[in-house]
Amino acid sequence: MIVAVSGFKGGVAKTTTALHLAGYFAGRGTTLLVDADSNRSAVRFADLGATLPFAVMPEKSAMKHLQQGRFEHVIFDTPGNPDEDDLLEIARGVDLMILPTIPDRMSFDPLLQLEPKLRGATYRVLVTIAPTHPERDGELVRDALSAAGLPTFQTIIHRRAAFKHASNAGALVEASEYEALGSEVIAFG
Ligand SMILES: Nc1ncnc2c1ncn2[C@@H]1O[C@H](COP(=O)(O)OP(=O)(O)OP(=O)(O)O)[C@@H](O)[C@H]1O
Ligand SMILES: [Mg+2]
Repeated sequence: MIVAVSGFKGGVAKTTTALHLAGYFAGRGTTLLVDADSNRSAVRFADLGATLPFAVMPEKSAMKHLQQGRFEHVIFDTPGNPDEDDLLEIARGVDLMILPTIPDRMSFDPLLQLEPKLRGATYRVLVTIAPTHPERDGELVRDALSAAGLPTFQTIIHRRAAFKHASNAGALVEASEYEALGSEVIAFG
């Protein structure tokens, strides 16, 4: 499967999502995470220490591997600040484009505005870093986006300190909500 993680806003767990999805796919077949973001966060995460069950490469180094087709699954962490046309092009080139958003109007408003343009594209919105129970901001935003016609994942990724610790250590968070996300994602394969 080829999956891209993209979106307008910074700090919405794009890289965290790409890394954990790659971890999920690595349990099912050879997996490459292509770091196409100029901030190289995924590559730096991979260099931090822990051994990851998938390969991580910057976009340009990944070309040869992509062409050889040695990886069954490829996840792209895409550059920040794409324009609408960039997003449409990305969506056309993959099996599924994931657009993470935090449950905050500044983050999801651009998605609402984009909805008419994205009709027909294969994408899903993922609500990330949502406040934990009993707060329901994530669930409410997911349902509002869905009611506005944006396809959304049922799974919500809630705020968990383990993600911050893991990003400092270069290790994946085990047994996270990304497993439920992974099983939603493979349905698009
Ligand atoms: N579910 C979560 N709970 C708590 N912290 C999280 C969660 N997901 C991500 N984070 C933290 O939020 C910060 C931003 O995450 P991340 O780097 O994945 O976002 P990004 O969208 O890739 O950002 P950038 O725009 O800089 O590329 C990081 O410090 C990360 O560890
Ligand atoms: Mg990032």
